[in-house]
Amino acid sequence: MSLVLGVGLRAGTPFAELQDLVTTALRELAGEVRLVVTIAGKEHEPALQELVAQLGAELRTFSTEELAQQPVPTPSERVDQLKGTPSVAEAAVLATGAHLLIPKRQASNTTIAIGVQRAAGYDLRDREVVQRVIAERRDVRRGFLDVAVDDVVLGRVLEAAHRAPSVGLSQPWDFLVIRDLATRRKVHDLATAQRDAFAASLPEDRRAAFDGLKIEAILDTPLNLAVTCDPGRGGRHVLGRHADPRTTMFSAAIAIQNFWLAARAEGLGVGWVSFFEPDEVAAILDLPAHIELVGYLCVGYVDEFAPAPELVRSGWAKRRPLSWAIHHEEWGRRATSIVDDALQATQNAVPATGQRVHVIVGGDASRLQQADALIVDLQAVRPPADFGVLWRPARTPAEAVEFGVEIARDLALQGVGQLVVQLAENSEQAEALSRGLQVGASACGLTHSTA
Ligand SMILES: Cc1cc2nc3c(=O)[nH]c(=O)nc-3n(C[C@H](O)[C@H](O)[C@H](O)COP(=O)(O)O)c2cc1C
Repeated sequence: MSLVLGVGLRAGTPFAELQDLVTTALRELAGEVRLVVTIAGKEHEPALQELVAQLGAELRTFSTEELAQQPVPTPSERVDQLKGTPSVAEAAVLATGAHLLIPKRQASNTTIAIGVQRAAGYDLRDREVVQRVIAERRDVRRGFLDVAVDDVVLGRVLEAAHRAPSVGLSQPWDFLVIRDLATRRKVHDLATAQRDAFAASLPEDRRAAFDGLKIEAILDTPLNLAVTCDPGRGGRHVLGRHADPRTTMFSAAIAIQNFWLAARAEGLGVGWVSFFEPDEVAAILDLPAHIELVGYLCVGYVDEFAPAPELVRSGWAKRRPLSWAIHHEEWGRRATSIVDDALQATQNAVPATGQRVHVIVGGDASRLQQADALIVDLQAVRPPADFGVLWRPARTPAEAVEFGVEIARDLALQGVGQLVVQLAENSEQAEALSRGLQVGASACGLTHSTA
């Protein structure tokens, strides 16, 4: 640990007094003092000079004005009157950007404070740029221009992708750049077939909304990019992958996010298309059998970047508030209770319009032929994967209520306006979850009825 020692001292302070104070404080910390800081004008004090020499540290000073700007934990009116700053020792430590570990300690003629140096973050302007590119990245499907993407620009964006973190530094990704129209046509045909299949699975009103959405830009962009993953790359002892093989896919997905952000900064639109069976795309692209497709991207210059996701602007879905996603220390402990939150929101809920969903609490999968049916399975054993079944094995009735609230709210975000709830299981958990559904529904202005 690299320590910073802040010192304030009167003229003529004896060295022994300063040394005692510092030695005692340093016993509490593991680390070396590399930097001693004080107010300008004190750098020639003999006690300070001797201490700096003994520690083998660098000595730096700050002006009164620089010190006065620091938000110190122990300001002193007396020091302020004498020196024009409410603190010397603490303020000098903070002025270096260090984190204060030992606040002000005093002897008769001297005060000290100790901090630890930490790596610098970016300044405000650069932080804003990072936040901006994250906020202004968009999935783009419309407004592509017939302008080629040159290799230099593409190289910069791929370089960003290639800098992604990866499990055990296995770098499991590869980037297949596709410009050939014939190949893109074949991939486009696959997406069209999947689009039709998805449309057919939707309830009628949702289908009408879906018809207005564009889900890919395979032929509208000069460039497509298939991002793949080699799950076995690096052999047997890749660090961190042994217990969780999914981490190779995560790594490749992060590479895509890097690509997406760097592309946004270049003014390049990117649209991720997943309306495919990955193996069918792999066959068209003639990928080796061990290579998995992670993402298929459409890339090109665009006339503009929309201020919000297209699915939000079209009313198809809404963004989930960050506060719903943050739990403190245990699952479900949020800054405000989800149930209280929902009860409060009930008063201001604007009635939603939208799709009707038949929620069967505790039902079995036999109802799933109905496009508007959603089964909530409360059993301990995970049912086979099916997005028509939500598996919610609540551990307590209170948790079941929360799950109910959350299900209703998440459905509202996906354009649902009406819940018809059917209790198909006679258990405390099922009843509690139904209650939660009712609370969540009224919080979001959903119509709620029981079947
Ligand atoms: C893994 C993944 C797959 C996606 N697949 C599609 C897709 O097939 N078609 C589509 O139009 N958008 C697709 N998207 C884009 C999302 O709809 C989009 O990211 C989301 O609505 C948020 O919008 P934004 O990216 O502009 O913030 C996909 C996004 C991700 C991350």
